Amino acid sequence: MSATIRVRVAERRAEALDICGLDLVAADGSALPAFTAGAHIDVHLPGGLVRQYSLYNAPGETQRYRIAVLRDAASRGGSAAVHEHLQPGTELSIGQPRNLFALDESAPHHLLLAGGIGITPLLSMAERLSAMGECFELHHCTRSPGRTPFLQHMAASPFARHVQHHHDDGAPEQKLDLADTLARAPAGTHLYVCGPTGFMDAVLAAGRSAGWPEERLHREYFAAAPADSSSDGSFEMEIASTGRVVPVSAGQSALAALLAAGLDIPMSCEQGVCGTCLTGVKAGTPEHRDQYLTPEERAANNQFLPCCSRASSARLVLDL
Ligand code: FES
Repeated sequence: MSATIRVRVAERRAEALDICGLDLVAADGSALPAFTAGAHIDVHLPGGLVRQYSLYNAPGETQRYRIAVLRDAASRGGSAAVHEHLQPGTELSIGQPRNLFALDESAPHHLLLAGGIGITPLLSMAERLSAMGECFELHHCTRSPGRTPFLQHMAASPFARHVQHHHDDGAPEQKLDLADTLARAPAGTHLYVCGPTGFMDAVLAAGRSAGWPEERLHREYFAAAPADSSSDGSFEMEIASTGRVVPVSAGQSALAALLAAGLDIPMSCEQGVCGTCLTGVKAGTPEHRDQYLTPEERAANNQFLPCCSRASSARLVLDL
């Protein structure tokens, strides 16, 4: 795992109902590592949880990292820890910025589609595209103006004219017409989507049914849909380099079995969204349960995410 950085909460703001924004600065006052648009950081929270949050400020800013967190009633504790324990002056550790949702800056046009708090990585992209003078549209879908973070921030930004807001409680004519938006996009447009799983699945399905290739459909999930584990069975994993066999019991994740066997597998989100634990598969058939791999990558069956995925064959031979 890469080294962590000690930071301090320099400022905390209410960005919208149940959404707080935090500015993090290096605890020793030094510059933070540079990041690119779409990057996120691991945030080590009080109580031992580690959660990923996208950076929403302009790439190139190294005096602070800006994150925003929705208090999620269904959360596994991460958002509650942020809202309850991170106050101005609180010190904590974060990981180095990583980007699994990078802009393709060679595209002729960019369509940024955000659902709710999924706006954060797309704001950073909008900052970058605006600074580059690129063509783009940013659509932000939320339940209501009161639940829309960064309304003022976007209205006052240099890219305000590129932004359209769509509210569930608003008039029908202001709602996002996905099919029309995709149909109007210039040839070669790249689409970037982040938000709740249902929103993202709808956007990606619309893109695929309109014939957009996967390389122009960029996505970042920030939460996994709850998996049904009631019919999980046991299976085995064989470590290709040693021939050692690691059993996985019905109530155990493949990652937990690998770690218990002493293998050093990098991990972060533990819910199949970040890609950190990606492991090669040389034989056998994974049962993919992640939201990180594309349909083509899943079908190739030569890699899987052991934090959430299992096996549909009796044994997987892992490229370890
Ligand atoms: Fe994030 Fe496995 S740890 S996908």
